[in-house]
Amino acid sequence: MERPILEIIKNIEEIPTLPMVAMEVMTLSKSPDVSIKAISECIHRDPPLAAKVLKLANSAFYRRGTQEIDTLHRAILMMGLNEIINITTSVSVLSVLGTRDKGGESLRIKFWDHCVATGLIARHVDKKIRMKAQGREFVGGLLHDIGKIIFDEFFHEKFMEAHALSIQRKCSMFEAEKEVLGTTHMEVGHFIAQKWGLPPYIADINLYHHQPGNAKFKDITSLISIANLLAKAKELSCGGDSVSFVLKDQEAWHILRKMGYSMDVLDIERITFEIEDIGEEVKTYLSAVSEEPVAEGANG
Ligand SMILES: [Fe+2]
Ligand SMILES: [Fe+2]
Repeated sequence: MERPILEIIKNIEEIPTLPMVAMEVMTLSKSPDVSIKAISECIHRDPPLAAKVLKLANSAFYRRGTQEIDTLHRAILMMGLNEIINITTSVSVLSVLGTRDKGGESLRIKFWDHCVATGLIARHVDKKIRMKAQGREFVGGLLHDIGKIIFDEFFHEKFMEAHALSIQRKCSMFEAEKEVLGTTHMEVGHFIAQKWGLPPYIADINLYHHQPGNAKFKDITSLISIANLLAKAKELSCGGDSVSFVLKDQEAWHILRKMGYSMDVLDIERITFEIEDIGEEVKTYLSAVSEEPVAEGANG
């Protein structure tokens, strides 16, 4: 009998790992009394990573005010420790998974457009419902589908088959993946997030963004679940899932309402209007994190 793909993935030696320093930052960030000095010294031990974090802190995407932030220490003072940990998490995962198109039949550009859009929309919804997730909503959105990259990298043909099936049947990617690959991007993403020592909320988002009722971090996972649907509604998707949905029919919507968030401020038509320029914002973010210019038409 063929070995299940999830088991194979767990044993693939070429699965990339996060840079050592990034993993140390994750570990440090779990300690409640972590200091600015400890985090900045740790990031400095990996000069390319430190440079990328500073570059992003100074990008149009994050920069507040006109003054250039020239040291990590200053970046932490100005932006807060949490935001610097968020940026470190994002840039290190992105540098390992690659945001560039692999050419051929690859879905990489569409994939990252979808993920960045999900993060940006999560940020927008976070402000509207006043969740105050402190930037975790952006990272959570950005990294919610990392299992798909692993499929694309190691089981490319089967992943393309699943993609075609989801379009043909107008079913969700995870249903098509289950049929073709025997596992889903949620299970694989959860495994990778744990293997890399990413914050537990990111592992939870990976596993439950399509079933937020089962999540441990119900608030942020539900937020990402809604942002994911809105990104697809903006046609920033990389599957054949249906794009029309009713917000009030969503499990995530009910969970957040029960938790006391004022969900009535979320009007799908208004949000769609408010996020009209999301494609441009996606481009700005991707060019800030990539070492090379973003390909023309990346957000078509
Ligand atoms: Fe997903
Ligand atoms: Fe998604």
